[in-house]
Amino acid sequence: MTPGLTPDDIPGLVRDDREAGLFRIDRRSFTRPEVLEWERQQIFDRCWLYVGHESEVAKPGDYFTRRVGGRPLLVSRGPDGVIRALINSCTHRGNPVALQARGNTKLFTCFYHAWAFDTKGTLVAVPGDDSYSPGFCKQSMGLAAVPRFDAYRGMLFACFDPKAVDLVDYLGEEACKRIDYFLDFGGEGGSEISDGTHSYSMKANWKLLVENSIDGYHAMSTHQRYFRRYLPDIGFDPSAWMAKRSPGDSRGRSLGNGHSCVESLDRGTPLSLSAPDELKALRADLVERFGEDYAHLTADYQRNVLIFPNLILISMFKTVRTFYPVSHDYIEVDGWGLFPKSDTPEMRRKRLDNFLSCQGPGGFATPDDVSGLEGCQRGFASVRELQWSDISRGMAQPEPTSTDELQMRAFWRKWHALLKGNEGFADCDDHPAQPVAQAQLAGSAG
Ligand code: FES
Ligand code: FE
Repeated sequence: MTPGLTPDDIPGLVRDDREAGLFRIDRRSFTRPEVLEWERQQIFDRCWLYVGHESEVAKPGDYFTRRVGGRPLLVSRGPDGVIRALINSCTHRGNPVALQARGNTKLFTCFYHAWAFDTKGTLVAVPGDDSYSPGFCKQSMGLAAVPRFDAYRGMLFACFDPKAVDLVDYLGEEACKRIDYFLDFGGEGGSEISDGTHSYSMKANWKLLVENSIDGYHAMSTHQRYFRRYLPDIGFDPSAWMAKRSPGDSRGRSLGNGHSCVESLDRGTPLSLSAPDELKALRADLVERFGEDYAHLTADYQRNVLIFPNLILISMFKTVRTFYPVSHDYIEVDGWGLFPKSDTPEMRRKRLDNFLSCQGPGGFATPDDVSGLEGCQRGFASVRELQWSDISRGMAQPEPTSTDELQMRAFWRKWHALLKGNEGFADCDDHPAQPVAQAQLAGSAG
């Protein structure tokens, strides 16, 4: 193991030379346990983190349990219709009060000594409560609420910093727009999480999956099986995917505050092959409801969006992905399909086919990524001999494309600012002095 780092080493972990167009990351950022400790304090304890979607608790009594920011959470919808995020740890001695991944109930009865809590988290029954002193106050022993809990268009977020800025300010206008585009291409009536979860893990640092999830550069080399074998096998011509990217049809963007995205004019997916008429009708519906400009931005682009620090939205498959580091070299990942509620059963089948043929442990692409990221982590064993990773691609370009790396630099700049203890919004773009180098994607608002 390499020698440990101290807080004095933090400023040197990122080399960001905007003049020379060079951006390097010290690989000890991926290999040192103390970096993860700093990340827990400065990032996961301070940022808004994705928890789930309101459709997962559609009815009163519905609940799900999930680890978020390292904490066991219980999200339930009370009889009053309100969704609450509670800490899934009994106020008696700590056991989880809900053991299942999801369900519907009126009471959470702790397995250990059978204290019972209602779906608002109130402690309603304690076996043998006559043995407690008068000073024991049942009302004050309800489940603890997450300090901050809010939703943006049905997407639920928690924050463990009571003093954090509000969720919409944290997201900012540009990231909110990308979430809107992601949600709106699907007809009226909103979206719902499809049954089932992709839960998998990998022996890699969490930041490698951040990079990978917004990395257009790796797609054709890493995912040959999907693009060169699977797509032609189902009759899809992948030549548009092989073409070189240009600023006119693809961009990597910083969306402010560490959020970022890659966006490209639509190059098709198995869904556009299997459901062309349905997609055309959904686009026409967008034109009717929001006008042509918004329909264009929403339906004619493919986007991978990073909401800092660990939420990924992938429009091609309507994937929602989040992950958390168990240790500096091991992460757990959860992924879901977030599909329009208005889908017919046949359209839902086609969406699932599109989603599952690429994403998740059984897809044609995810195992490639796991292999690549675990390979990078193994490569970092040589950190003493090879200290730096390069993320400079496109840094000298006025308009980096989706196969450049601006979107990753935006993440790393926010990461670095937070680790250095900076408050407020970080300067995440390549050319912050001229923020409106926005020769935009045709008609793009951002
Ligand atoms: Fe829950 Fe004792 S730990 S009732
Ligand atoms: Fe990939």
